[in-house]
Amino acid sequence: MSTAWTSRYALRTKGLKSSAIRELLKVTQNPEVISLAGGLPAPEVFPTQRFQEACEKALRDNAPAALQYGPTEGYKPLREMIARHIARYGIKAQIENVLITSGSQQALDLIGKLLINSGDRVMVEAPTYLGALQAFNVYGAEYISVPIDKDGLQTELLDRALRSGPKFMYILPNFQNPGGTTLSEGRRHELVLMADRYGIPIVEDDPYGQLRYEGQHLPTLLVLDRENLRRDNGYSIGNVIYLSTFSKTLAPGIRLGWIVAPPDVINKFVQLKQAADLHTSTFAQIVAYEVARDGFLDEHVRTIRNVYRERRDVMLAALQEYFPPEVTWTHPQGGLFLWVTLPEGIDCQKLFRTALEHNVAFVPGDSFYASNHVATPHMRLNFSNATPEQIREGIRRLSLAVKQQIAERQTADVSL
Ligand SMILES: Cc1ncc(COP(=O)(O)O)c(C=O)c1O
Repeated sequence: MSTAWTSRYALRTKGLKSSAIRELLKVTQNPEVISLAGGLPAPEVFPTQRFQEACEKALRDNAPAALQYGPTEGYKPLREMIARHIARYGIKAQIENVLITSGSQQALDLIGKLLINSGDRVMVEAPTYLGALQAFNVYGAEYISVPIDKDGLQTELLDRALRSGPKFMYILPNFQNPGGTTLSEGRRHELVLMADRYGIPIVEDDPYGQLRYEGQHLPTLLVLDRENLRRDNGYSIGNVIYLSTFSKTLAPGIRLGWIVAPPDVINKFVQLKQAADLHTSTFAQIVAYEVARDGFLDEHVRTIRNVYRERRDVMLAALQEYFPPEVTWTHPQGGLFLWVTLPEGIDCQKLFRTALEHNVAFVPGDSFYASNHVATPHMRLNFSNATPEQIREGIRRLSLAVKQQIAERQTADVSL
């Protein structure tokens, strides 16, 4: 007798959906389609040669460690490198504050495991990172959404949200995915003040912080955290758990991210991570360390910034040239995404299908909201993966689809 697996699935699997983006990406595999959909880095900037040398070195000089089980906390030299690196931005982390994860996505899952009981509320930005919602959904999270505007999370709306008692806040201060917006410095201060006042911690997800193409670096919430500011040395307690990753600065395929948190919290994460995968790939960690060391990462980040800045500018110029005046978009100071606001009444799913007929893809904005209610139709556009020529052509094709949908909507309005 064969097992009826579905009747055996745990309750927590109820209502889980595959990521809308991953499903969309399957459609965009067709080489004719210019995809502005995924959040993929440009493969041209992967430091392939350096990776090859690092792999050879790891196997030549360090094979017993590279191929062996390792500590759950991560490869010590890599953790030390991360602690040194973030100290530049004023984060007073020691190695005890750093846990290496299998990408930031694993960190989000561990956060769900550590903090969310079924039915707990999480305060998220509207819109927010879809992968975080997926991770938290597994643990039965419910959501309080607070909208963003061009300066990021609207902190003036926080009071009410925090009074309803969320377990924590999930915040993307830099070049938000999908919004492309950056939380202003004033709002950063306000946010940490509110966290302190209400005793509600913050999970700060910062995969893009280093990819700034204009303007000044703004302090992380971790640095501004009141508890952190009260101490001059070390990060022993505090209101902020900080996440980042090598996915956008080195390569996502190595699956390496990290968590910065007070040591007690790190120890708890270590127990949960042990249960999940014992530790992140030792080989990947040693290779990443060898690639990043001796200033290479800094130099490489400068190269990526130049490539992505150009692509962002090409996309902004093409939008200006081709899109009708009733459509608006964000001007991201960094990161990989731009957020386009369409006129009311446009059906984004329909627009997506029309866009595919024109051989161009984007991600419909409704995927990025915790609740089903979306006031205005949006598109998320990625500018890191396609070449400048493809971006220009992609935006031209997309403008045809948008104009077609606007015209159809007007016809529908007239016939009503
Ligand atoms: C905001 C945000 N958090 C986390 C991740 C996951 O990154 P990683 O590749 O490190 O798992 C992404 C990836 O796009 C992201 O945009």
